[in-house]
Amino acid sequence: MRIAVFASGSGSNFQSIVDATLEGRLDARVELCVSSRPDAGVVDRARLLGIPVLVLSGSIDVHLAELKETLETQKIDIIALAGFLKKIPSELIQLDPLRILNIHPALLPQFGGPGMYGMRVHEAVLAAKETISGATVHIVDEEYDSGPIVMQRTVPVLPTDTATDLAARVLKIEHELYPEALQLFAKNQITINGRKVSY
Ligand code: GRF
Repeated sequence: MRIAVFASGSGSNFQSIVDATLEGRLDARVELCVSSRPDAGVVDRARLLGIPVLVLSGSIDVHLAELKETLETQKIDIIALAGFLKKIPSELIQLDPLRILNIHPALLPQFGGPGMYGMRVHEAVLAAKETISGATVHIVDEEYDSGPIVMQRTVPVLPTDTATDLAARVLKIEHELYPEALQLFAKNQITINGRKVSY
């Protein structure tokens, strides 16, 4: 399976996916890194690894033709969004059989949707006095954070937690969860019927 990771941040999830492929836990290869920021940490990580990088600044719609061509040339089977801060155009979501996954740092369907990203997610979890949070891998549809859920994993929220503490605890399990979820696709072990995902 050939993966493209779309990310705009430090790229720790990108790194965990690459590591899983190199360590034989994920039967796939990361063939492309797409970023909306040329100065993002993920871009440096990809360049160091010799993985091709495509930087899309401004609106994705402007770059859609170039992006589609690159995905085709690299024969990408699946896109893993990992902190990519731009909305994915419908035209890309509808490309069959291309799959698009996203990882969200909370237990969807709670604490998701427009504006719910980065520290805001963890601040909202703390404000709601939740005792459990976690991470969710889901299939991307036309709305933010609303597609069918593939896998979730929980972490405790401690009474002394700051948003930064909670973010670090969640990020740690994201690094396990994303490669595991991707492996289900690599092994063709997943069936999706409407919103129901089974494996
Ligand atoms: C992660 O928390 C992910 O859940 C969210 O964006 C963050 C990306 O972090 N969608 P990193 O760049 O992979 O370190």
